[in-house]
Amino acid sequence: MMKELDGMHTIEIIYPDDWHCHLRDGNALQTTVPLVAKQFKRAIVMPNLQPAVATAMDAMAYLGRIKSHIPEGVDFQPLMTLYLTEATTKDTIQEAKASGFVTACKLYPAGVTTNSAQGVNTLETLFPAFEAMEKAKLPLLIHGEVNDKDVDVFDREKIFIERYAQTLINTFPSLKIVFEHITTSEAVDFVKTAPFTVAATITPQHLLLNRNALFIGGIRPHHYCLPVLKRQTHQEALIKAATSGNPKFFIGTDSAPHAKSKKESFCGCAGIFSHHAALELYATAFDEANALDKLEGFTSLFGPRFYDLPVNTGKIRLTKENWEVPHTMTYEDESLVPFYAGLTLSWKVI
Ligand code: DOR
Ligand code: ZN
Repeated sequence: MMKELDGMHTIEIIYPDDWHCHLRDGNALQTTVPLVAKQFKRAIVMPNLQPAVATAMDAMAYLGRIKSHIPEGVDFQPLMTLYLTEATTKDTIQEAKASGFVTACKLYPAGVTTNSAQGVNTLETLFPAFEAMEKAKLPLLIHGEVNDKDVDVFDREKIFIERYAQTLINTFPSLKIVFEHITTSEAVDFVKTAPFTVAATITPQHLLLNRNALFIGGIRPHHYCLPVLKRQTHQEALIKAATSGNPKFFIGTDSAPHAKSKKESFCGCAGIFSHHAALELYATAFDEANALDKLEGFTSLFGPRFYDLPVNTGKIRLTKENWEVPHTMTYEDESLVPFYAGLTLSWKVI
């Protein structure tokens, strides 16, 4: 139970987990790992490195590199994922399960987002892998957008759901499926009525912004992510879902750092970094919706329930206090511009 410590100025919730994020590799880990480990006890780590994390061996090596950046004495567990490619076989899945440290597998339709070139063009190619995942009880995490260039970029999630979601559920009825970073009312409606094997993660940017934020007096590359922000009615549907107390909707920041120069560029990368203030961003969104009492379920209870993992034991406190998000942070040999840079957040982790 969330505790109000002094009439809603300070709240205490069970330590959260992040069910979807990008930690990158190499020097980037110096920035990403200490920050994720500060606010979360566990995090599902996306496999879209180059080359992709496609086997248990790749995941083991990547896990080692992440672990070497966890600050001393900090209790943080990276939960590894495999990238499903056209070369993924039943054996790949069985080895992943046997490893004990692979928690889920990620489906990228080829070309839909950053480092997704190794994804799939035809979903059926992966049916043997999905069957093996269903048997092994490894959840399928989906970037739910079609890669069909004839489909309007704002409709790619809706069309993915129309074309593939029901078929997947019918064909693999006991496979657990997470529609990651959902952005539309169509996705909300689908997940709400789907069986209990289906859930969705929601990012802070899709709760706090809509597509107008891409064009405030000019083009705003730091608000560009994929799936792209949608119109206000979709934002409202996402806020409603996240704050409804429905356990099918839970946290997944999709924190996805890119160096400043890669965002502010001729062809800017998709991705928003939010691990500098993840909980504060969600708390601000829930507070604006008058739903702080629903925050703990979303951040700390529903994810573990879906993944069949224990709820964390420690507690974290947030206080109602205005603070300004820094304009830049150190990243790789350069800098990055974090989400809400230069703006004021009304909650702070203590
Ligand atoms: O905006 C995004 N950035 N969406 C994704 O799906 C991938 C991510 C990244 O890796 O940068
Ligand atoms: Zn992502």
